[in-house]
Amino acid sequence: MCGIIGYIGKREIVPVLLSGLKRMEYRGYDSAGLAVLNGEGIQIAKEVGKIVQLEKSLNGNSLSGMVGIGHTRWATHGVPNTTNAHPHIDSHGHIALIHNGIIENYIALRHRLEARGHKFRTETDTETLAHLIEDAYQGDILEAVQVALAQVKGTYGLAVICDKEPDRIVAARMGSPLIIGVGDNENFVASDLAAIVPYTRNAIYLDDGEVALIRQHEVQHFTLTNRAVMKKIEAVTLDLEAIEKGGYDHFMLKEIMEQPRTLEDSMRGRLLEEEGIAKLGGISQYIDQLANARRIIIVACGTSWHSALIGEYMIEEFARIPVEVEYASEFRYRDPIIEDGTFVIAISQSGETADTLAALKEAKRKGAVTLGICNVVGSSIARETDAGIYLHAGPEIGVASTKAFTSQVTVLALLAMLLGRKKSISSAQGRWMVREMKKLPGLVNEILQNVEPIAQLAEKFKDHPNFLYLGRGYNFPIALEGALKLKEISYIHAEGYPAAEMKHGPIALIDKDMPVVFIATQDGTYEKVLSNIEEVKARQGIVIAVCTKGDRDMGDKADYTIEIPRTMNFLMPILSVIPLQLLAYYIAVLRGCNVDQPRNLAKSVTVE
Ligand code: G6P
Repeated sequence: MCGIIGYIGKREIVPVLLSGLKRMEYRGYDSAGLAVLNGEGIQIAKEVGKIVQLEKSLNGNSLSGMVGIGHTRWATHGVPNTTNAHPHIDSHGHIALIHNGIIENYIALRHRLEARGHKFRTETDTETLAHLIEDAYQGDILEAVQVALAQVKGTYGLAVICDKEPDRIVAARMGSPLIIGVGDNENFVASDLAAIVPYTRNAIYLDDGEVALIRQHEVQHFTLTNRAVMKKIEAVTLDLEAIEKGGYDHFMLKEIMEQPRTLEDSMRGRLLEEEGIAKLGGISQYIDQLANARRIIIVACGTSWHSALIGEYMIEEFARIPVEVEYASEFRYRDPIIEDGTFVIAISQSGETADTLAALKEAKRKGAVTLGICNVVGSSIARETDAGIYLHAGPEIGVASTKAFTSQVTVLALLAMLLGRKKSISSAQGRWMVREMKKLPGLVNEILQNVEPIAQLAEKFKDHPNFLYLGRGYNFPIALEGALKLKEISYIHAEGYPAAEMKHGPIALIDKDMPVVFIATQDGTYEKVLSNIEEVKARQGIVIAVCTKGDRDMGDKADYTIEIPRTMNFLMPILSVIPLQLLAYYIAVLRGCNVDQPRNLAKSVTVE
């Protein structure tokens, strides 16, 4: 999320910062800005939209200098506009900074600083850092950053400049990547290698809790408590294209692989273990009303519609509120019934899907309270809804949605748990649920550590023209999602069904050439799914089973098994979808398909 670049040296600053930002634009592009030091204080330029907008507005502008910082934003707190765009400054405009990550305790810090006379201008969590550093400043910007960060909870990749010390940039890292580019009489700092490799291939990777003092001829490293740290300069060998994709061949694979982190980001600050409850600040004013809703309708399209189905199961199980899931495109035209006490939740990664937006407007016209679950902050759906929950999964570039899906299911799990705790779920059960949710990033990571068997399956089945995906309960929507992933990117015909529905039609398709992917984890419907597997085997179908780790029986029944770790049933979809994302990915690659931009599809469908 977001891109950071800083430079100190002899080059003209604006082209260096702009070219760095352009290379990081895939990380976020809702607004961008620069701050430059040139002996006349701090000069700032910001624009909404892509970097070219900033570039255009700088055309003919005399912004110049040899020290500066730049940022391309992917909003988390506050809509994308020029005020909320980085860099942010302190009350008196002596300090400017750019930040990636989320300051979790920014509200408490902001109240405290406001009480001390600081004037805030933006809705962002980041601005708090500028004031906090100003508050701690006693003539040494390095020390002020260290003192300020000691009070911060959350994640940051940070670059700070101060007009009273114009020969330095201070950078710090906690949970958000930051790299120093060491040049010849010049130095860089960036969130991505891509921004610095055109200038130097000597890199120092900051670790969490480290602060760097960057000057033109020297870089020094410290801890937050000012102990000196020795760092190694490493040679970068990757080429630019590979770097932008984090070293992966495709954005889709990168996004699959980053799910342990994106799940953590979606849950960050939202799980209260002691109380066994979730905290969802964005909808707090509606949560009691929602817990007493007569009915919840969820509208969505595509992959988001699949997460909605899982949400339905979760909310009905834990909160006992009736939930209906509708295709947004159907809902908008069929004069839906909205009674008093109806909530409509729109789920959309992009927040721009035309049908979902129209369904939402229809629901509002009919008097529903509307909530949004979106990834893109400040998107149309996020703005149109009465309140909402953001995914914080970072920009998703691959057209086939992967990390946004698992974050949607995670956010729905948080919501179901919160509603459930307001109803019948005990605090002991709540604590158990919180603990299980906290384990999810580690469990997903475990699956991602063992992709080779899935790649081998892809090799075996890449030429089959049809696939069937079957699952029950929480895994039924995963059957739909697995089939959708495969058809989207490999153009193989695939259908997803509830396993028991197979006998009402799809069973006619089964013969020795039909691979049937069962999502057959050990939950309440496990025995029933085993019978469905037998039915497929009896017709010579090929069974590939995604099953629970240690399930010995499955080895005898299925032709191929993919084991995943165990968790509570309602969280199982977050794990069971991962092998199916990988299977689709590897098959598509082997078939020579354009994985990130499949034919005929679009990432954001803004037309009907
Ligand atoms: C398109 C994308 C899908 C996505 C769907 C809904 O079809 O290709 O990946 O699931 O739109 O998009 P949304 O942004 O509303 O989640």
